[in-house]
Amino acid sequence: MILKHAETPALVAEAIIRELLIPGARAGVFHLAVSGGSTPRLLFELMAQEPFVAEIEWGNLRLYWVDERCVPPTDADSNYGMTKRALLDKVWLSDKQIMRIRGEAEPEAEASRYTTLVCDTLPRTDSGLPIFDLILLGMGDDGHTSSIFPHQMHLLETLTPYVVATHPAGQKRIALTGPTILVAKQLAFHAVGVAKGHILREICAGVVEAKAYPSTYLLEHRADIAFYTDQRV
Ligand code: 6PG
Repeated sequence: MILKHAETPALVAEAIIRELLIPGARAGVFHLAVSGGSTPRLLFELMAQEPFVAEIEWGNLRLYWVDERCVPPTDADSNYGMTKRALLDKVWLSDKQIMRIRGEAEPEAEASRYTTLVCDTLPRTDSGLPIFDLILLGMGDDGHTSSIFPHQMHLLETLTPYVVATHPAGQKRIALTGPTILVAKQLAFHAVGVAKGHILREICAGVVEAKAYPSTYLLEHRADIAFYTDQRV
């Protein structure tokens, strides 16, 4: 893990933009997968503001989601809906640049459709896994990431890139699985706040409870994952 500390959530988001997003989009077509939840909202809002909005090569961006709740895009729970309000309504991207996961669709069919879309669009490994340029991951208070929760650890080794997962409360999700996450060119966690700091310190200390966290699995399987946070370890 490469810890990237900044003093506030805004400075954390700015570091991600300056260090990952601006250089990534400058280098050419940039296949970026973003997470949902609440943490990325500030990142998306800052991307749409000066000075960053003028520095990001928007024409090179190809936007995907790490996961999506199986709800319509207008639902308050929709990760796409959050991204639309925070970013997509403020910058111009063509429809061809935005690969929305259709949360309103039948879950198994959508997981299959999105897997095919990603596999047909991205470069792939010798074993056929699609390679994102950058995947931005969140981390839940239970150590989950993507929509891979502690009760579904098998998704960390499922080869199909996108599958149907289930939130512990029962909500179906379309989720990116472990093997495809681990072959991304760049991988970064974005997690701020005291609750995430507690999880991060458990992971860094190697406490036995942390073994149950999907985030731990990814951090143990790839040494160059950047972890952007306002928390101290
Ligand atoms: C989701 C996210 C999920 C998120 C974590 C952290 O659909 O909920 O993709 O993996 O990154 O749950 O969420 P917060 O940023 O809201 O803490």
